[in-house]
Amino acid sequence: MEAVKVINHTKDEISFEKILVIGLGQLGLPVAKYVKEKGFDVYGYDNNERAMDNAEKQYGIKKIDNFSDIDVFIVCISTHREDDISSPQIDGLMAITRKIAKEAMNGKLVSIESTVPRGTTRKMFEILEHRFHVVHAPHRWYALEEDLHGVNQLRVIGGVCDCCLRTGIRFYDGVEHADEKENLGYYRGNKSYKSLGIPMYSVSTVELAELSKIVENADRYLQIAFAEDLYMFCKANGISFAELRDAVNTKWNVNILEPRDGIGGHCIPKDTRMFLESSEIKSKILISAQDVDKDYRKYIERMVKDVNQINH
Ligand SMILES: NC(=O)c1ccc[n+]([C@@H]2O[C@H](COP(=O)([O-])OP(=O)(O)OC[C@H]3O[C@@H](n4cnc5c(N)ncnc54)[C@H](O)[C@@H]3O)[C@@H](O)[C@H]2O)c1
Repeated sequence: MEAVKVINHTKDEISFEKILVIGLGQLGLPVAKYVKEKGFDVYGYDNNERAMDNAEKQYGIKKIDNFSDIDVFIVCISTHREDDISSPQIDGLMAITRKIAKEAMNGKLVSIESTVPRGTTRKMFEILEHRFHVVHAPHRWYALEEDLHGVNQLRVIGGVCDCCLRTGIRFYDGVEHADEKENLGYYRGNKSYKSLGIPMYSVSTVELAELSKIVENADRYLQIAFAEDLYMFCKANGISFAELRDAVNTKWNVNILEPRDGIGGHCIPKDTRMFLESSEIKSKILISAQDVDKDYRKYIERMVKDVNQINH
């Protein structure tokens, strides 16, 4: 087996000056803006020239094509197939990782903020030949409530190695982090560093950080699917869904959602699939939830058709 070139970073402290945000879409753009507002020297890279032009025009994010002079890489590229937003795809991530491996200097920090299937971050670490600190800090950014749930909100972070985690926490949270696994969670050290000022919740493995994100969205999927199921039950039995929902939601620990148009967007269905595909033993309840969503969509389609026929 080929020897891995593990470098000893434990004593080195990277200075975080030049930050590159890779992928300047819905998530990467506010991330780049935030990092710039925190006083860092921020650059942007995207394989879509228009996204780079837009970031430069809107927030003065400097375009860059060569990665040789960067201290921190924040990866925000899409992880779905272009022709099907609910299908996970990590080819772009792997291509970017190879570019970093080829062009960047050893010992820098690579943070994956995109949502990824279990095992992806470690794969990237291997492509990087263990020469970089690699963390996964999945995002909880929510477009409709950016003030409340924007870039700066509590996030989970996991590192491939302890030194990766320590370096990642220094960059995000600005605190020194202990080596001991017992100090995971909201550990606060004595030292503080120039950072993004984002509170982080650390976990013991990078795979756990990956799972935390896709489980969050799988949980949301289940909640919406139950609302859809209940809606169809109500329609079949002549019961008012709205009235039942209002009544049930008066209880302190119940929150039935609205079913709306089916479970859409490029996050919740894709992330639920990432979770299902992360194990050979699949979650039965999630598979049923996917079936419920399919039935619900057909049901809605039929209702729309019926209404259109009546109106003609
Ligand atoms: N948008 C959200 O609300 C949100 C919230 C949390 C997590 N996420 C996750 O963040 C990631 C990005 O989501 P998004 O909404 O910003 O997607 P997006 O499609 O809006 O933007 C992705 C950007 O990445 C670029 N890109 C794709 N492949 C690339 C490559 N190989 N090299 C360089 N650039 C590349 C695209 O051109 C695009 O500009 C996804 O994994 C998503 O699941 C998104």
